[in-house]
Amino acid sequence: MNIFDQIDTKNIPQHIAIIMDGNGRWANKQGHDRLFGHNNGVESVRETIKAGNKINLKYLTLYAFSTENWNRPKSEVDGLMELLVRTIANEIEELHENNVKINTIGNIKGLPISCEKELNQACIKTKNNSGLNLILALNYSSRWELTDVVKKIAYKVESGSIKVPQINEELIISELNTSDIPDPELLIRTSGEHRISNFLLWQIAYSELYFTDILWPEFKEKDLYEAIINYQSRERRFGKVLNK
Ligand code: FPP
Repeated sequence: MNIFDQIDTKNIPQHIAIIMDGNGRWANKQGHDRLFGHNNGVESVRETIKAGNKINLKYLTLYAFSTENWNRPKSEVDGLMELLVRTIANEIEELHENNVKINTIGNIKGLPISCEKELNQACIKTKNNSGLNLILALNYSSRWELTDVVKKIAYKVESGSIKVPQINEELIISELNTSDIPDPELLIRTSGEHRISNFLLWQIAYSELYFTDILWPEFKEKDLYEAIINYQSRERRFGKVLNK
């Protein structure tokens, strides 16, 4: 049976988050520099979005640049920023035609101005679309996000608009970058690394984790379907005991 036909269409996760890892290793294996890997990673991004659209996925979050990635060589950081601007500029029309709504999480104001502008334009252009929500995590890390949440709540307490006993999970969620996005049911990481790397730490409390050895530039449509089929084979208990 074709892999697509093995998917239970009644049990598609609403939200899939992906740590796209392995671009550098994939490029080095073939004697190229790391940017070659990132460039080829864009094709996997396209495939994943296409696959997500096909199965009516509602939310897809891609970890494209972490707050720690600034520590990479300047040439790689500059190349990644240029790639991001170029990719959005090249793809925006097709994404819009396919009803994709673009959003971001992360400290977008900390990105180069050209990047911030391109992203804002893409978000505005697609804001009324009702298909796949594509969330790009850029200059993002969970510790940055949670520190920001703590500050925002502390200011509210300081100003007297709330009292400490009113701090609860709902309030914290409302201050997260993802306040209007459901938690991912499935988190995928490519490249054989079994780490979360400061990604969506609050939001993945009950997510199913799926690790594959495939390097990101080799991740294709069928690999997303495989991850979903694997997810569908799991029993999600959320800390409870399921009645058999
Ligand atoms: C991790 O591989 C990948 C990144 C830090 C960047 C991901 C960016 C893209 C796929 C391209 C642009 C994306 C969009 C959304 C337009 P790595 O460099 O850490 O690989 P390594 O672990 O093998 O060194």
